[in-house]
Parts: sequence; C-alpha cells; structure tokens
Amino acid sequence: MTYTTILTETRGRVGVVTLNRPKAMNAFNQQMLGELFDALEAFDKDQAIGAIVVTGNEKAFAAGADIKEMAEASYVEMLTAGHVQSWDRIRGIRKPVIAAVSGWALGGGCEFVLSCDMVVASESAKFGQPEITIGVIPGAGGTQRLARLVGKYLAMEMVINNRTLTAQEALQFGLANRIVPVEGYLDAAVSFAEEIASRAPLAVRMAKDAVNAAFETALSEGLAVEKRNFYPLFATEDQKEGMKAFIEKRKAEWKGK
Ligand code: CAA
Repeated sequence: MTYTTILTETRGRVGVVTLNRPKAMNAFNQQMLGELFDALEAFDKDQAIGAIVVTGNEKAFAAGADIKEMAEASYVEMLTAGHVQSWDRIRGIRKPVIAAVSGWALGGGCEFVLSCDMVVASESAKFGQPEITIGVIPGAGGTQRLARLVGKYLAMEMVINNRTLTAQEALQFGLANRIVPVEGYLDAAVSFAEEIASRAPLAVRMAKDAVNAAFETALSEGLAVEKRNFYPLFATEDQKEGMKAFIEKRKAEWKGK
C-alpha cells in the first residue's frame, strides 16, 4: 500500500506507523486519518505482527484535527461527512497499539493517544485538549476517555480551561506507562512493543478485549467478558505449551494457535 501522509515499517514483530505531516505538526486531515487506520488494520491482519507502535516526530505526535480543513465547514457538512466517525476504527484493532509520544499531543492527537492501549512518552511530551480555545469541544472521544482515565476535575480543567499536562504529570495521572529520554524514544517504545509481541498472541488478544471491557461495562458484565475470554484459551495449543513449559522450566514457544 502506498501512503502519502504516513510512513510504515516493520521491526521484527512490531509494525510501526509514523504520522508524517511535519509542516502541519502532524494535524490529522481526513486523508491522514484514513491512511492511519488503513495501516493499523493491515498490521492487525498480518500474522507476522504482534504489536503496533504509532508515533509522530520529536516536536509533535499530532496537534489535533486539521483546523484549516474544517474551519469553513458548516454543521450539516460536518455531520453528513461524519467528520469524527472514522476515529472509531481504532476500536476494531485487536492487537495492542502503543503510542510513542514526543512533543505535542493535542486535541485529536491526545484523543488518539487515549484510544491506544499503552503510552510511552518522551520527556518533552505534552498532552492537552485545547479545542475550547478555537470555540469547540473534543469530538473524537476526549471528554469520555479522558474523564474515565484522569477523573472528573482534571478532565474538566483540561477540556474547559485548556490545562496541558507535562510528561511527568501524564505519568502521575495515568496517561502514560513510562517516560523515556527524547533521544531514542521511538526505539524505547519499539522494544516495549517487542516484549509484548513476544507473548502468546491469542492470550494477548483476549486480554486486551477483557481490559477494554472494564471501560465499557458494569463490573458484573466485565467479569462475564473476562470469563468468556479465559475459558476458550484452554482450547489453544499455546495454553498447553505455556503450562508445559512452566513445569519443564523452559521458555515457551508460542504458535498463536
Ligand atoms: N491544524 C492545522 N494546522 C496546524 C494545526 C492543526 N491542528 N496545528 C498546527 N498547525 C500548523 C500551523 O498552522 C502552522 O502552519 P503554517 O506554518 O502554515 O502557519 C504549523 O502547523 C506550525 O504550527 P505553529 O507555527 O503554530 O507551531 P508552534 O510551535 O508555535 O505551536 C502548537 C505548536 C502548540 C501545536 C500550535 O500549532 C497549536 O496550538 N496547534 C493547534 C492545536 C489545537 O487547537 N488542536 C485542536 C484541533 S481541533 C480537534 O482536534 C478536534 C477533535 O476533537 C477531533
């Protein structure tokens, strides 16, 4: 597949997508959004890939939706084009997606990060929902995912009063898994992803699905999802191999079967 607004590469069992509109701070126009999700879906289908990393550049992960693209749009145009609908495609990706964030992750950039499964932040990463400063609100999940993650008061402050979080604050408030130096931040994210990609693929898929259920359902329903995902793993070769390897004190060899 040929892309013009993103770059893709494979590093071992890790698929890497790099947002590549540096002159626009990697703002998401509709083309980049489409290409990003096409690339994620392609990696998701590829048996050789175990985890996916999405990154930008050192200065900007992504500065949000492309303001220039929508500045003159009418309500009807935005609605009929389903402007923010396509962001939901991230929910269909079954493999773990790790955001490697350096510099600005603002607006839709922050919302995309919030849709990922794990976040590696460089020391320069900054997270925010500045839509209020341009007369709108987050439209790609920001009000919902942020509130669930950081709680009501901080989410309100970020969404209503444009509070921006530093990398350190993001770590403190649960918006990042780890902070790494700016230099080599992508390599650090890829080795984190490699570790994840080396695990039993079907169990990883079931685990992601079950953890995500915690954000969508009541506890009883979430526990039911967990059980529904736990039992079928006993029908996999990997479960037999994993437990046998433990007993034989050796490293398991996963087949994804
Ligand atoms: N859309 C379109 N272009 C953008 C952009 C965006 N979101 N963010 C930056 N750019 C462009 C700038 O217009 C500028 O282009 P020109 O050189 O042609 O003027 C270029 O990128 C560089 O930007 P700056 O000169 O502003 O760079 P800076 O270092 O001074 O500031 C910044 C960087 C803080 C990220 C600043 O650009 C900024 O505040 N950007 C807008 C952030 C924002 O409001 N995002 C929310 C978008 S709405 C949204 O995301 C809705 C949703 O929920 C889906």
